[in-house]
Amino acid sequence: NMKVFLLFGLVAVALADVSRFEGEKVFRLKPVLDKHVTLIKELDKSIKVDFWRPESSELVTIDSDVDIRVPAIYLDMVYTILQQNDMEHEVLIEDLQVAVDAHADNKASPRTHSYTKYNSWDKIQSWIASISSSNPNLISKQVIGNTYEGRPMTILKLGKKSSSTKPAIFMDCGIHAREWISPAFCQWFVKEALSTYGSDSQMTSLLDQMDVFVLPVFNVDGYDYTHKSNRMWRKTRSKKSGSSCIGADPNRNWNAGWCTIGASSNPCSDTFCGYSPESEIEVKNVADFIRRNKSIIKAYLTIHSYSQLLLFPYSYTYDLAEHHSELLKVAEGASAALRSLYGTRYTSGPGATTIYPAAGGSDDWAYDLGVKYSYTFELRDTGRYGFLLPESEIKPTCEETMLAVKYIAAYVQKNL
Ligand code: ARG
Ligand code: ZN
Repeated sequence: NMKVFLLFGLVAVALADVSRFEGEKVFRLKPVLDKHVTLIKELDKSIKVDFWRPESSELVTIDSDVDIRVPAIYLDMVYTILQQNDMEHEVLIEDLQVAVDAHADNKASPRTHSYTKYNSWDKIQSWIASISSSNPNLISKQVIGNTYEGRPMTILKLGKKSSSTKPAIFMDCGIHAREWISPAFCQWFVKEALSTYGSDSQMTSLLDQMDVFVLPVFNVDGYDYTHKSNRMWRKTRSKKSGSSCIGADPNRNWNAGWCTIGASSNPCSDTFCGYSPESEIEVKNVADFIRRNKSIIKAYLTIHSYSQLLLFPYSYTYDLAEHHSELLKVAEGASAALRSLYGTRYTSGPGATTIYPAAGGSDDWAYDLGVKYSYTFELRDTGRYGFLLPESEIKPTCEETMLAVKYIAAYVQKNL
């Protein structure tokens, strides 16, 4: 009996094929010499390291922190290399599996959706259905296409019904699968919009005058995969014959200096730009939607994590955007609003100079299409937990981010 039981257990584990991270560590490396940078790049070539920040070794530069995840079997080797080369470092996460198990509680409420938990795609999907039928005067839903694996991509439209077409703001969450705080924010935003309409004067006036399109999960296949198989997945889940590696980076796949800088043409890389611009169906679906609604979309907001940044174009070039000073002014106002609640500090600036140049991003694409107010948020934290931000931080993170988003929305509304 026991043997049969064990066998079933083994088969179940094998079938589920869930990645485990026992003994893996997340390091913060501090390269201050050219040889340190070279070393990090060589490390990436020789062993499998997962870059958390920046997202690939090509983006590593001198004097900027590098957060990497190292498999247990390479720890001795990495420690030796760090010591031999005098590279300063700290351990951000001692044991990744412990952190994975601790950050989200997937046992307490298996069935119910919660705004203060990381909901599975199934829960988000039924939430989308119920919330959009709850208040037909303020919210409606629209499927803009299916993902690679056939899941629907649903946009929620928030705003008071009107006979004339209203100007709009577009916001997406969950472009990158493992950045779980991002979809949590989109859900929070929808809830707050509905529950404060009529009492909060700013939200009321916003939804009276404008519509807000919210895509709660952009990379649905990837998000589902992080819940079921590999918590650390970033890309889409598309397959192509000729490569055994899966997925492309949905924030390197847009037609904005596509694959010229800060992106990889290697299908196995986490920053793979894809086989052509919009090769990823999820990117194509959203790009088509924004193109179709280009005359009414006044702002594009895309929510990522982590690093606490508010970025705007450009990332594919060091050239300043035509509206640079206005974009910076609005970003600084939004960051100040965010900080007023819990003191959380954000850095704002153009992507290329604030973090690193990286082409093919949605923010640059939207901006070049003519959506002037185009912003990328990198939410909490700055690396203590990284992608494994504890669920207890969902509420404060969403509350403070609301202030920044509302600041930008109010500015856009005033300048229609
Ligand atoms: N961490 C984000 C990414 O790598 C930053 C995006 C900034 N914008 C950009 N177009 N690269 O996708
Ligand atoms: Zn991201």
